[in-house]
Amino acid sequence: MSGFSLDREDDFARGARTVLVLPQIDRESGFDVAARLEEGRGLALAIGLNVVESRAYRVRVPRAATLLGGGQVEEIAATVERFEAELLIVDAQLSAIQQRNLEDRIGIKVIDRTGLILEIFGERAATAEGRLQVELAHLDYQAGRLVRSWTHLERQRGGFGFLGGPGETQIEADRRLIRDRMAKLRRELEDVRRTRSLHRDRRQRAPWPVIALVGYTNAGKSTLFNRMTGSDVMAEDLLFATLDPTMREIALPGLDKAILSDTVGFVSDLPTELIAAFRATLEEVTAADLIVHVRDIAHEESEAQRCNVLAILRDLGVNAEEDGADDGEESVADPIPVIEVWNKIDLLAPERRGDLAEAADMDPDVAMISAVTGDGIEAMREMLARRLTADDREQRIHLPAGEGRMLAWLHENGRVLEQRQQGELLQIDVRMSERNWGRFRRFDQAPGPD
Ligand code: GTP
Repeated sequence: MSGFSLDREDDFARGARTVLVLPQIDRESGFDVAARLEEGRGLALAIGLNVVESRAYRVRVPRAATLLGGGQVEEIAATVERFEAELLIVDAQLSAIQQRNLEDRIGIKVIDRTGLILEIFGERAATAEGRLQVELAHLDYQAGRLVRSWTHLERQRGGFGFLGGPGETQIEADRRLIRDRMAKLRRELEDVRRTRSLHRDRRQRAPWPVIALVGYTNAGKSTLFNRMTGSDVMAEDLLFATLDPTMREIALPGLDKAILSDTVGFVSDLPTELIAAFRATLEEVTAADLIVHVRDIAHEESEAQRCNVLAILRDLGVNAEEDGADDGEESVADPIPVIEVWNKIDLLAPERRGDLAEAADMDPDVAMISAVTGDGIEAMREMLARRLTADDREQRIHLPAGEGRMLAWLHENGRVLEQRQQGELLQIDVRMSERNWGRFRRFDQAPGPD
């Protein structure tokens, strides 16, 4: 091990008294202050911070040195002192210099939105791949800060214009350590991905369709996942209860086996570092046969959250089949059908629930449920099955009676409706997806589908 420590526990004590500040920058439109403050508090809570005070500050002209204005910084310093806070979260992107200047003036540790989200991801990552991705994103973030602080230091040193000064050597050394560590992580990540893609290949060769759950953070994906799989993946009233996709086998009406995959929860303004980290995790979504978009329909910002999720899916290159998605852009892959699941209907007032039910009835791709009470789940399962088998086709085939292997394959991959002996031949009526018929035709011509 090198002397460079990546231990995040040092920086973040659970329960640390925290002041949260939301800079409301004038040129940003469509900014709902109350919702963003609420989200920020939720994010801080997710890593067990104790938010003692939170408020928004209007920023007319962002300052290069501190982002916030001088008077605002003083006010924040006073708040920090009054509440004896140990940590200040600035819910915006700060440059390295801004972050350090704020730390100097306020006298406590300062983190920005990216830093905060990285912390959460670091804590929530459940699998080896998730941890590697987050660490890589974190290092990338730190490396960016070091580069900037290097120029900053140089400027500060001013008169001592000789190379190899102590500050520079240290930063050079840190940068090298970060670079080495990142290279190592990338190699490890490669290995993990190779293994996973092997798994996926194997699964793709299997006939089971994959259903991916996506949604804004806290929409109820894990709760729904648990209800559908009977498993006990953690569901807490915390953001990001899941970082890594969790795959489970489920049965649906008329479908023996499908794979349900739970994915990360999305947030607004996802930092770019994390979009990159997500990309790999969400490969599962790009490969899905059906996307189930779980929405907290009782949330005030439900519509904005929906747009956010769809935008992130687009950023990730998921070609979701949704209204208006077909805007003439060249698509990379076949569109994946999306079903919207309007969750938490138990929280709705009766009239609102009635109105929504009317809207949902008009749309064949919307289901209304409560993952907690179980309301609507059966109808939703039927909808999923219907959507997945929409392109199934029935066909009659004849096999030589001794063709045990092929017969077994048909039973495993399709729904055998009828099977009759006709002399030397076996007549079989089968229902299967187009994909499986394709594989069957190849199988028929040997050497077999696999
Ligand atoms: P992330 O992992 O952050 O993306 O969250 P998630 O989408 O997996 O949400 P999760 O299932 O963890 O649920 C978040 C909170 O909403 C939990 O407190 C759940 O108990 C609650 N919740 C989920 N579904 C329902 C529902 O149908 N009704 C009510 N009242 N609460 C629900």
